[in-house]
Amino acid sequence: MIEQPQSSGHSQISSFKSDARVLVVGGQGGIGGALIDQLSSDPLIAELHVWSRQHIEGDDNAIKRVDVDITDETSIAAAAASLEHIDLVIVATGMLHGRDGTAPEKSWKDLSVGQFTDNFLVNTIGPALIAKHVLPRFPRRGRAVFAALSARVGSIEDNRLGGWYSYRASKAALNQVIKSLSIELSRLRPDAVCVGLHPGTVDTNLSRPFQANVDAAKLFTQSAAAGHLLKVIDGLTTEDTGGVFAWDGTRVPS
Ligand SMILES: NC(=O)c1ccc[n+]([C@@H]2O[C@H](COP(=O)([O-])OP(=O)(O)OC[C@H]3O[C@@H](n4cnc5c(N)ncnc54)[C@H](OP(=O)(O)O)[C@@H]3O)[C@@H](O)[C@H]2O)c1
Repeated sequence: MIEQPQSSGHSQISSFKSDARVLVVGGQGGIGGALIDQLSSDPLIAELHVWSRQHIEGDDNAIKRVDVDITDETSIAAAAASLEHIDLVIVATGMLHGRDGTAPEKSWKDLSVGQFTDNFLVNTIGPALIAKHVLPRFPRRGRAVFAALSARVGSIEDNRLGGWYSYRASKAALNQVIKSLSIELSRLRPDAVCVGLHPGTVDTNLSRPFQANVDAAKLFTQSAAAGHLLKVIDGLTTEDTGGVFAWDGTRVPS
């Protein structure tokens, strides 16, 4: 697996102003947790907010944690009401297989209302509702970024293998939502950026059942993935808004 050198005292988001206010949604996830580990020691960050579904006991007081289920708009709205302003939002939630172990569909024979609904609720509707409640809290001028974790398999042009119907469709729909958000955002917050990010294949609970055929050299640790994503976010400009970018900064086709 590919490791990433840890940062030592320098900011990984130096393109943001000092005293940046950052929100990570999905703090209990593999990639979300690694992002929080790295951001919690970042010298530029004044406030680190973390939303996750499960309450975490005995936590670091410097991190402001709120319980949020992203499929429940009331819980998103209540959490957002406690944010005054925010400069960077990273949505690191997502699902591929159901909690009951339901595998992604290999064939049209496997399609079901339940699996489609679950994937769209978590992967598309949840991030869209988060945007609804946090984008109004971006500064009117100055750098701000909304980045939602998408996936290369959401690319229609890049779909060579088929399968994974509802996950692919939910990520393709997320990418379309991101594009629309970016257009509206550019009118209201002209310096802000809204993107999707593909983290590569990362060793987390989400990918674990599907790692058997992944070359070890292409499987990232959670910490490496977080480092890659922060580097991509730090390099984004307003020209990138509406796009989807992979862990190495390259654009993922629509
Ligand atoms: N790992 C990969 O290889 C890979 C590749 C491409 C894209 N991605 C994308 O990267 C993102 C992060 O994935 P990961 O690998 O870090 O997976 P993960 O470890 O399974 O984390 C996913 C997180 O999403 C949270 N979540 C799911 N439903 C939620 C809900 N209704 N409300 C609040 N939180 C919810 C989960 O919370 P709980 O802990 O409470 O269940 C979990 O913390 C996903 O969008 C995924 O599609 C991952």
